Amino acid sequence: MGENTFSAVRVSEHVYWVGAIDWGLRDFHGYTTHRGSSYNAYLILADKVTLVDTVKRGFADELLARTASVIDPRRIDFIVSNHAEMDHSGSLPEIIQAVQPEKVFASAMGVKALAAHNLAQQIEAVGNGSSLNLGNLTLRFWETRMLHWPDSMVSYLVEDQVLFSQDGFGMHLASSERFADEVDPWILRYEAAKYYANILLPYSPLVTRLLATIKELGIPIACIAPDHGPIWRKGLEVLEWWREWAEQKPTKKAVIAYDTMWKSTELMARAIAEGLVETGATVKLAGMHGSTRSDVATELLEAGAFLVGSPTINNNMFPTVADLLCYIRGLKPKNLVGQAFGSYGWSGEGVKQVREELARMGVELVGEPVAINYVPNQSALQACRELGRAVGRRMQERLS
Ligand code: FEO
Repeated sequence: MGENTFSAVRVSEHVYWVGAIDWGLRDFHGYTTHRGSSYNAYLILADKVTLVDTVKRGFADELLARTASVIDPRRIDFIVSNHAEMDHSGSLPEIIQAVQPEKVFASAMGVKALAAHNLAQQIEAVGNGSSLNLGNLTLRFWETRMLHWPDSMVSYLVEDQVLFSQDGFGMHLASSERFADEVDPWILRYEAAKYYANILLPYSPLVTRLLATIKELGIPIACIAPDHGPIWRKGLEVLEWWREWAEQKPTKKAVIAYDTMWKSTELMARAIAEGLVETGATVKLAGMHGSTRSDVATELLEAGAFLVGSPTINNNMFPTVADLLCYIRGLKPKNLVGQAFGSYGWSGEGVKQVREELARMGVELVGEPVAINYVPNQSALQACRELGRAVGRRMQERLS
């Protein structure tokens, strides 16, 4: 082959990574990706050359160039689409056009989803637990419905023991390293946790079931190849991380998220933090003028308490707080205690609205919200500190 701008990376005897790295990505449908991401696709060099997943629209050239570094892309016979979300199927029309594959496969739900993607080719459904004969190799499929979309499935290359886990066990991380064991361990765990907290959390019971199914199947896994971030080939510690996170077991961590107009609500948040610290809690404060909703979701992953503060603006809670609560409610966090607080000028509906939202998301409310007119005085700050103590004590009770 001639010189290529992009190269494939060998993953196992027959598998090459041929994905794309999105170094500049900073927003993934509302999830702040401070470290970018990658869209992973995998080439299986079998008798029937197979491409597992594609990449986001705009990155097809990179996929094709990496493929071309090992084989002419027009030699691809099969394409498998494990997941129809646009970051993996956005370039599918272009790739089909370029490759002209013999067949394209997806789950039954994937066939339905891809019907609306303007593809120039019929998609064939593969059944749950079924196998596809690649000549000298065998690819198996298991549906993982609602992990995290209805169409989601995983594929498994029997001979190389490679599990193509689609979004599963992935993370948003653009890196020059392709394997998890090459990445700074702190970054690895943080980004894996962030991904779990922001994408998978609502489906935690299904994650637990999937992990049990993997165990029951007893398939040997040498390598987990996700659709985002590094590939797991040693230790597979991510399986244990996911098992822990799916349990949604709280720790003594309390998260206080707030926004502030004139620093009064911020002062209250700091006083509440002092009360929590007195009870032995680990406290994280997130001011929504600097933190993002996905940062707060990440902090909440192992938290036992969630307190939210808002000023009132035009008879409503502050917009950044409303944004946060809408996002967090969708993630269905569990096992939290907490309360609302905030300062107001003349009407003060914001705190009541925050309290209602926390109740709707199932947070056990401790005591009463603290709402302060204008600037908190010493007695108001003592009330905040007492709220922190009360929430901290209740969190510790529930942990014991
Ligand atoms: Fe990476 Fe659900 O898309």
